[in-house]
Amino acid sequence: MLYTLITGACGGLGSTFTNILAEKGTPIFLTGRSGDKLAAFKSALKEKNPALEVVIYPCDLREEESRAALFDYADRGNIMFGRLIYVAGVDTQMAFEEYDEAHILTQTRVNFEGAVSFIKSMLERAPLDGNTEILCVGSVTSIMPEPYFALYAATKKALEYFCMALRTELKGRAKVTCVLPGGMPTREDIKENIKAHGGYGALSAMSPDKVAGKALKAVKKNKKRIIIGFWNKLTNFGASLLPLSWRMHFAAKVWKNTRKDFYKE
Ligand SMILES: NC(=O)c1ccc[n+]([C@@H]2O[C@H](COP(=O)([O-])OP(=O)(O)OC[C@H]3O[C@@H](n4cnc5c(N)ncnc54)[C@H](OP(=O)(O)O)[C@@H]3O)[C@@H](O)[C@H]2O)c1
Repeated sequence: MLYTLITGACGGLGSTFTNILAEKGTPIFLTGRSGDKLAAFKSALKEKNPALEVVIYPCDLREEESRAALFDYADRGNIMFGRLIYVAGVDTQMAFEEYDEAHILTQTRVNFEGAVSFIKSMLERAPLDGNTEILCVGSVTSIMPEPYFALYAATKKALEYFCMALRTELKGRAKVTCVLPGGMPTREDIKENIKAHGGYGALSAMSPDKVAGKALKAVKKNKKRIIIGFWNKLTNFGASLLPLSWRMHFAAKVWKNTRKDFYKE
């Protein structure tokens, strides 16, 4: 039996992926930082479908030992992964001068290092028969450098480029897709942020259900990357026609007056 490993499983988008797969009866292995949140989520899933195969294991994606412990646990239980859905991400958005070392490490490790490390560990164990799937959640912000959202956009760009290159290396053996959503109203601070961006925010935003559904279809088809939503596709195309300096000037205006710092420690 092959499990789908989902990071950020208790978050807004992660729980959406989880619910979709749980409804189909797919064996799932869920991770996030909080063991309590994972246990509560597992109980809720099992209540709906007692036969569902659900394994939980907490992991702090910033920590090498914590990441290794998760795969050791899976090895000890002879758990094999046929799909990885890397949803975890830290979306701190503020001027880079406001960052301290902890913010830098958290965002770079969770958004990029953790993903690369999980992909490596998974590939070492997965049957590379062409059906193995790796789906990473990037962001539409990575379509260009984003002043005042600089580190986030850069980590998501790194993830996207890594996935695209890896897809070529693994051709015929595994499918690799990076999905680039626009704003999703998953947390209260994100909802406020979308509202603060007025018409642009409203047009770019979409439900996590739509994103998760389209992303699952895209990785089945081994798409290299997928931008979700007509407006986001149009913005991506339109932006490519404009000089980069104009695009960054616009991005700076959009982000300068808002701030998100959910993952404080
Ligand atoms: N919402 C949007 O507008 C939007 C737009 C584009 C892209 N995205 C991307 O979509 C993904 C999901 O975002 P979301 O909106 O669902 O936000 P969310 O609810 O805050 O989910 C983020 C998840 O990341 C996990 N995480 C954070 N730090 C972690 C760490 N150190 N170790 C392990 N897990 C950690 C959290 O897990 P725990 O809290 O359970 O530990 C949480 O489940 C992210 O990659 C985000 O960048 C979001």
